[in-house]
Amino acid sequence: MSAALIRLHFHDCFVHGCDASNLLNNSQTIKSEKDSPPNVSTRGHQVIDAAKAQLETICPAVVSCADILAVAARDASAFAGGPSWDVKLGRRDSTAAFPDEVMGNLPFFNSDLQILIDLFKRKGLSPRDMVALSGAHTLGLAPCFSFRERIHSNNASALRRRCPAVGGDSNLVAMDMTPDKFDNNYFTNIVQRKGLLKTDQVLFSGGVTDSIVMEYSQSPSRFSADFAAAMIKMGDLQPLTGSAGQVRKICSAANK
Ligand code: HEM
Repeated sequence: MSAALIRLHFHDCFVHGCDASNLLNNSQTIKSEKDSPPNVSTRGHQVIDAAKAQLETICPAVVSCADILAVAARDASAFAGGPSWDVKLGRRDSTAAFPDEVMGNLPFFNSDLQILIDLFKRKGLSPRDMVALSGAHTLGLAPCFSFRERIHSNNASALRRRCPAVGGDSNLVAMDMTPDKFDNNYFTNIVQRKGLLKTDQVLFSGGVTDSIVMEYSQSPSRFSADFAAAMIKMGDLQPLTGSAGQVRKICSAANK
């Protein structure tokens, strides 16, 4: 579950800022972001909904869903053995979803390095932030369709059994050997040319990010510190503050 919660915060912040727009369901007035390809496999919404329900009982209309996502991502990291950090609070929630902005703002699993660097740069995040944040793939699972192309062009035979050339699209595979533990195995894998997604391996493929991957593969503490700093930067993306937006009563719908 840690993986799912960190990913939800990322998918929130990169699309129209950290405003919990990714949590809204379809309704008469809202076209949800959840149906866009990168979001279809997101999970963990029930954890956010449960936290929201408890908060509304204790202290109604104060803590936004966007802040819950930010805090949940931090706690998920710490729970999995990763870093913790002070989460800035005060984000408010959007009243709309932005499905048309999902594809241009969230990275795709077969992007090349320059596309990733440019996409993160547009968010004010450096290549170093990008590599550190990609280290979130130390946690969680990826479905076969997202890495099939890669494993059928090299000799990853165990992976090919789990993810055949045809079929098994949604078979899940751990993104590193320890998918429940926040560690730097993701980077040691990449150095050994065993990155699961194309976008994982491009970070160590003769380009400008090679030295950062190498550094993180040798220093778990450097990775942890940079991950925490980059998560704080990501959590600062275009927040709604003051009287903009609202504090939703439930995270999946705008207030009536
Ligand atoms: C750099 C570009 C990135 C690409 C192309 C990418 C792509 C993907 C893909 C294809 C998956 C497999 C899940 C699926 O499709 O169903 C995935 C999983 C995941 N991603 Fe990323 N991602 C990127 C960056 C990030 C960042 C910046 C974070 C968070 C800071 C993140 C957090 C995660 C987590 C935790 C999972 C596992 C989710 C789970 O087990 O439910 N990713 N990512």
